Amino acid sequence: MAPSTSSALTLKVNGEKHTLSVDHRTTLLDALRERLDLTGTKKGCDQGQCGACTVLIDGRRAVSCLQLAVAAEGREITTIEGVADGDRLHPVQQAFLDLDGFQCGYCTPGQICSALGVIEEHAAGWPSAATTDIRPEAGVPELTAEEIRERMSGNLCRCGAYVSIVQAVARAARAEEETV
Ligand code: FES
Ligand code: FES
Repeated sequence: MAPSTSSALTLKVNGEKHTLSVDHRTTLLDALRERLDLTGTKKGCDQGQCGACTVLIDGRRAVSCLQLAVAAEGREITTIEGVADGDRLHPVQQAFLDLDGFQCGYCTPGQICSALGVIEEHAAGWPSAATTDIRPEAGVPELTAEEIRERMSGNLCRCGAYVSIVQAVARAARAEEETV
C-alpha cells in the first residue's frame, strides 16, 4: 500500500482551533487562504522573497509560503484577521491608515504583521544589520528610519509606499513605548 500523502492536523489561528486534512506538501499560506478562507494573508512570489505572506508564529515573523502547514501544528498563528481588537484597529493598523502607509494594499497585511514583529524584536533589544553598537551595555538601539528600513527589508512594496510605511512603523513603535 502506498504511504499516505495527507494528514489530519489542527491549526490554531487567531486563537481558534481548526482541524483539517491536508496534503503534506501544503504550505501554511495555502492552508490559510484555500482551506480556512483567511485570504488577508497574500501570495506574492510564493518563494520567500516578497514578504506578502508574512504571519506571526508564536509571536515571531514568518513567511508562510516557506512553512509547511504540518510544521505549524501546535503553534500560535496570528494573521492580519487576528490583529485588531474587534472593531478597534491595532495601533499599527491605525498608523498605516493615518499616514497612508499603502496604495494598492496588496503588501499591507504582510507589512503590518512584519511591523508587529519588528516592534517586539526592537523592544526586546534585538540588534539589526543597521545597529552600529551591538554591545549589551549599549541597550536597546534607537528605532531610527534606517533601523526600520533594515528591519522591514523583507517586505517589498511594489507601489513604493516605503516612506509612509517607515513613518507608520515609527509612530506605532512610539505609541507602544508610551503604553509600557
Ligand atoms: S509570497 Fe511568501 S515571501 Fe512572497
Ligand atoms: S501598497 Fe501596493 S504593493 Fe504595497
